[in-house]
Amino acid sequence: MNTFSQESPAALVEKSALRHIAFIMDGNGRWANARMLPREAGHKAGADTFKKIVRYCCSIGIRYCTVYAFSTENWNRPKAEVDAIMRLLDKFVREADDEKEIEFHFIGDRTPLAKDMCAHLEKLENDTRGRPYVLNIALNYGGRGEIVQAVNACLAEGKTQITKEDLTRHLYTAHCPDPDLVVRTGKELRISNYLLWQSAYAEYYFSDKMWPDLTPDDIDEMVRSFAGRKRRWGGLDKA
Ligand code: IPE
Ligand code: IPE
Ligand code: MG
Repeated sequence: MNTFSQESPAALVEKSALRHIAFIMDGNGRWANARMLPREAGHKAGADTFKKIVRYCCSIGIRYCTVYAFSTENWNRPKAEVDAIMRLLDKFVREADDEKEIEFHFIGDRTPLAKDMCAHLEKLENDTRGRPYVLNIALNYGGRGEIVQAVNACLAEGKTQITKEDLTRHLYTAHCPDPDLVVRTGKELRISNYLLWQSAYAEYYFSDKMWPDLTPDDIDEMVRSFAGRKRRWGGLDKA
């Protein structure tokens, strides 16, 4: 048992300066398969879990959350599944005005998204500015594509040489600190093109649970794990 385990999750969040947690919400399809349900049912259950988990993270003082909802590679799935995920996302966005504390941002390339959906995303972003907690929903997001679009934005400014700061300013996450903790559920040990630039010094946590099964107790365990780690940033431990 580590020495932090008696403290409340909120106290540990504060003490360990856990500002930003980023989730790869993986395992919806396998969760459904195990129950003889269609994959879409897994995405629906995953959407319910997502709402609960984000609310819980806010309640313990984690100011920034980012969730991977749809990757640029997820278009490779059957059209029926892609359509079902998009319908769920659109429904979530239209119903999200009951969240009063959260500032929403959609990160990713919106070009291929339906016009109606883009209008809903923009409205939610505009209506929620200045709220205490920030939620980034990665939708048609890919880390490599994000870096390329940031470089292109620098070129469009007329730059011929760029700095790390220039690039960071054009990332979709320019309004946030880098993630402190990146969590992946669903048993896979990879990052699948997620926040490649931003997670250079993130801590990682891999959970064997399928995303729909994740609970606030699991978040508490992640917080305890994070609080027990030593981040060195390439330096040495303080004496
Ligand atoms: C994650 O769950 C959700 C999305 C990628 C949209 P998956 O659908 O990848 O679930 P598994 O990995 O097949 O179980
Ligand atoms: C990553 O999960 C993307 C999301 C959770 C949205 P995937 O299921 O798409 O990742 P791979 O294909 O297993 O790497
Ligand atoms: Mg998956």
